[in-house]
Order: sequence, then C-alpha cells, then structure tokens
Amino acid sequence: MLRTSLWLFFTVFLTHAQIPDAGFMGADFHRDRRQKVINELPKNSIAVLFSSPIRNRSNDVNHPYHQDPNFYYLTGCKEPHAVLLLFEKPTLLDGVYVQEILFVRNRNSRYELWEGEQLGPERAERLLGFQKGLPTHQFESVLASTSDHSQILHLGFIDDIRDNPRDNLDLFSLVALFKKHLSKKKSMIVPENDTPVVDNKTLSSIMAQLREVKTPEELERLQKAIDISVVGQIEVMKAIHPAMSEREIQGIHEFVFRKYGAQHQGYPSIVGSGNNGAVLHYTHNTASPVGNQLVLMDVGASYYGYTADITRTIPANGIFTEEQSAIYNLVLSAQEAGIQAAVSGAPFSAPGKSAKEIIEKGLLALGIIEDTSQARRYFPHGTSHYIGLDVHDQGTYGPLKPNSIITVEPGVYIPENSPCDSKWWGIAIRIEDDILITNEGPVNLSKGAPKTIADIEATMQLSSALEDFILPKLP
Ligand code: GLY
Ligand code: MN
Ligand code: MN
Repeated sequence: MLRTSLWLFFTVFLTHAQIPDAGFMGADFHRDRRQKVINELPKNSIAVLFSSPIRNRSNDVNHPYHQDPNFYYLTGCKEPHAVLLLFEKPTLLDGVYVQEILFVRNRNSRYELWEGEQLGPERAERLLGFQKGLPTHQFESVLASTSDHSQILHLGFIDDIRDNPRDNLDLFSLVALFKKHLSKKKSMIVPENDTPVVDNKTLSSIMAQLREVKTPEELERLQKAIDISVVGQIEVMKAIHPAMSEREIQGIHEFVFRKYGAQHQGYPSIVGSGNNGAVLHYTHNTASPVGNQLVLMDVGASYYGYTADITRTIPANGIFTEEQSAIYNLVLSAQEAGIQAAVSGAPFSAPGKSAKEIIEKGLLALGIIEDTSQARRYFPHGTSHYIGLDVHDQGTYGPLKPNSIITVEPGVYIPENSPCDSKWWGIAIRIEDDILITNEGPVNLSKGAPKTIADIEATMQLSSALEDFILPKLP
C-alpha cells in the first residue's frame, strides 16, 4: 500500500465518487420520484436531504461507500458530501424559478486522480437532469436566501459523521450549517402557530409511502438480484459437501453474485451450520467443516442497489434425516401458508399470523412444546419485511399494496440444550422467499430456488462446476 501523506489525505477524507453507470436507473426515474415528493410537501415548505457519511474502518482505510438509499432514490447521485433541496413552490434563484437543487463538490483533478471521476454541478444538471446543480460552497447562501419558507422538512440527523477539520465543506460542515439555519428558524416560531417550523417526521413518511411501491425499473432490478441469488443457492446445493467450511459456502454464493454482475451483497451473508443457524443474524461464518449438519444460508445479491433476500436450509451431506425432515416440512407448510396470505389489501401481519398458527400446532404435535405459548422460544421473529434499496426496506407496513415486494420467512431453531428431546437439537431451519404483491395474488419471485425436500435432494445430486476447480495446496 502506498504510504504517502497524500494517500492518507485522499483516503481518509475523500472517497469513491461515481458518475452514472450502466445500471443507472435513468434521470427520468429519479426526477419522477422527486416530483412525487414535491407534490406531497406541505405548503411553502422545503425538504433537505443529505448524502451518507463516509465510514472509517481504521487508520487510512474507509468502509466501501454506500449512498443513503433515500438520497439515491431521489437523485441517482452516489457521491458523498452532497445535499438535495426540494421546494414546494417554485423559488427564484439566479433569475430562474426552480424546485430542486443538487449540491455536489466541484470536480477536482487531484481528487479524480486517486478516486475516479466526480459528477460536478454541471453534470448534475446534464446527466442527472436536475433543474439546478450547484457547488456545495453555495449551500449556505442558498439556504439563507430561501428563508421565507414557512416549514423545513428533513429526515433527522445521525450523530456519527466524522469531521475533517481541514475541509469546511465536508458533510459534517454542511450538516452544521443546516443546523445553524434550523436554530435561527426555530427561534422564529410564533407561540400560537402549532405547525412545526422544523419537521423531521413528514418527509420520512412521504419516503416510506413512495419506496414501498416499486416502479417497473425497480422491479426489473429486484428480479435480477433475485435471479442471481437463486443461481447462488442452486450452485451451492450442487457443490456443498461436509468437508466445506461456512466461509467457502459463503464464497460460492458471493462468487456467483459477482459472476452475474451483482456489485455487492445486500446485507452480510448468513451461512450457519447446525447450532449457528439458530443465531438469527449469524454472520461470523467461521465454522469449519460444516460436517453432516444442516446449513442455513440467508444470502442476497444487490443489483444496482436493489437487494434480494432468500434463505434456503440444506443438509451438507445431501440427505435430510427423519427429524430434520419433520421440522423442515413444518417450516415449509408455514411458509406456504404465509405466502398464500400475502394478498393485496391484507394487513401486513397476515403472512406472519398464518405461519405462526401452523408452527405452533406443528411443534405441539411433534412434542417439542407442551403449550402453544412456548412456540416463541423456537420461532422468535416475524416473517415479513419489504425489500428494495434496503434489505429491510422502507414502507408503511400497512395493508399490502400491489407492486410491493415482501419476504415470507418463518423458521424453527432448536439449539443444543433446548428443553425438548435431544434428537431435535442442532436443527435450525429458515425458508425465505421474495413475494410480489399483485391484484391477482402473491407471486413468488424466488421460486426457482429448490425448496421441497425432494427438489433439494435431487439438486444436490447434480454435478458442480466446482468439482474441477482444484487449487494448489499451500506450502
Ligand atoms: N437477511 C435478513 C432477513 O432475512 O431479514
Ligand atoms: Mn434473509
Ligand atoms: Mn428477510
């Protein structure tokens, strides 16, 4: 690694910028989303949104940059140190009426040498289709000149933004300028006026309503993320054997994601063998080998920001035992009932309710619990959330709406020393699919990943391309 002070400066305080690439949703998509927010804004208000901060990993290395999903959704901009302003009413700026401004950094050749091309204000207009792109140093003066707005909407603040003391236009400074502006506005509140001048709730609610229902461009990317993740599950079913480690299994999934053009995982991959599968968000993935145990694999590719979320649980040796089959078929019937309940207009809780009833009855019938109230010990979570730009995506969590996508993911987890017959110990099973809500009923977008015991066992008999992938032994 280069060890110059220049390197330190550029890596700590600046980060990877990107201009629109092949997976760009298109300026029209983002403009349409902005217009929808503008249409919902309270009278004479402005909305202010900030990009995500850069997260430092340690010393001069940062975590990969991930744009704030709300910011990305409304802008298409993947750069840090950026601000979006939306105006409810057309606002005069430099002799032109505008309702949207994107503030980004001016392009800088020294920065671009280390980090790649920046967008720049001019291209914010030309490529992202903004009415106005401005350099960040104008943020303060534009805020001041638009202070006749009666209400300011924002999404709340995170308090772990790192300050670069040598940069008075980094995100930390931009947020500080905004807070200063807010405190001036708050001091102008007239006591009898009950409309909050500064509001950090309304904008979140507008964003949740919009992001819940996916557009065709979003559905296309989600389906691609799901299709890629399905291939990952199938390839692992073909390749897995008891001598593999959890990490190797994770690696196969993630290699398939990259091979098919996914940029990332949508969330840290969960690959848990035996008891590890009972840790709901297990991400250590350190056990080696997995042996003759079940392996729970909750993994999702992220394709241009949109993430799949699929779980399959399989026996590493290719054959389910009798006890594993009994629990597996119980979780599967609960999941199928949950999917059937995912109908447009049903309460968000409907799939979970259906799945829970089946698991309670099943655990009782198998003698694993003595009373249905004990079922929560083995099925301690809900079954559903939206997916989209976030794996647990934003939405109203109200009645199910067409063109939203939810997961249905019941599970039964019986770790060692549970208060039941020891023959059940070490069985941890979750089955998760991604379900499109439509007026014609639920559509399982991830149905290509084998799910019945017969289909999984048959897939595990198929030969894998990895059988010929033999690496040299380390010295
Ligand atoms: N992958 C996390 C979840 O299923 O919610
Ligand atoms: Mn999952
Ligand atoms: Mn999930």
